Amino acid sequence: MKDFLTIGQLTRTDLVALLDQAASLKEIQKRGGIHQPLAGKSVGLIFQKSSTRTRVSFEVGIFQLGGQSIFLSPHDIQLGRGETVADTARVLSRYLHAVVIRTYGQQIVEELAHYAEIPIINGLTDQHHPCQALADLLTVREQKGHLEGLKLAYIGDGNNMAHSLIEAAALSGMHISVAAPEGYRPDETIVANARSLAGAGKVDIVVDPFDAARDADVLYTDVWASMGQEAETEARKKIFKPYQINRALLKEAGADAIVMHCLPAHRGEEITEEVLEGPRSVVWDQAENRLHTQKAVLELLLGS
Ligand code: CP
Ligand code: NVA
Repeated sequence: MKDFLTIGQLTRTDLVALLDQAASLKEIQKRGGIHQPLAGKSVGLIFQKSSTRTRVSFEVGIFQLGGQSIFLSPHDIQLGRGETVADTARVLSRYLHAVVIRTYGQQIVEELAHYAEIPIINGLTDQHHPCQALADLLTVREQKGHLEGLKLAYIGDGNNMAHSLIEAAALSGMHISVAAPEGYRPDETIVANARSLAGAGKVDIVVDPFDAARDADVLYTDVWASMGQEAETEARKKIFKPYQINRALLKEAGADAIVMHCLPAHRGEEITEEVLEGPRSVVWDQAENRLHTQKAVLELLLGS
């Protein structure tokens, strides 16, 4: 595997290996161990959208693995002034050992990967957020001991997060039920591809959030307006109002259901303060696990 662009590109064996390696890197870090497979290597971070978790966890993870990270905002590099993706890819390949990119269209990361001789890691596009979904699977596995056979209910927008979770759940043999309003359902091609994976768990797309949440082991949500959709924020608040994770929806889920959110959260919109801060919420572990799973990705792609 040269790049990490979507969860759907992984085999189940790759996925399990990444989660196992992430768990082991977490152990090493917790006991203060030193493990530096990236010694002497430099990783560029191109971020064309804001980030707290992805940027910081990659920078810290690269440091812990013995490498160097170089943050490249659009204001800093010529890509922001019109230099092409193809030229950027070829030049950066002569200096760096990998690039993490957060951008708009998935075709941009694909083009970068096509022209780059070094691994490209997708740090979020409008269509996918594979690094987050990997951390989410590790978190569920820590909480429940396994993945196969669990039901994950995703409530809200059929966006990048929904797409990566559909692929992640299907590949893990989980049942994913996505509740989204008409017009905001996940991409049909992504859903069809996930359903066709060998050993795939069930993928259903429903309208009623209570149908999705019924007997779920995991309730998951994301923002109603993603980065780049700021102009639609007010309209979306009305459309998504019934799609809130709150006390009533949590009651519909299994007695031991956990609550997840990729963050940043908008309390009182997609999730209530009470549930986000309540005993079923695992959002801080989920955020921490970004560090461990991304270190596993980095080691797999560029460890010697
Ligand atoms: N969940 C996530 O990707 O957060 P950031 O936008 O802060 O990176
Ligand atoms: N769907 C959100 C995820 C943020 C981590 C966005 O793209 O803004």
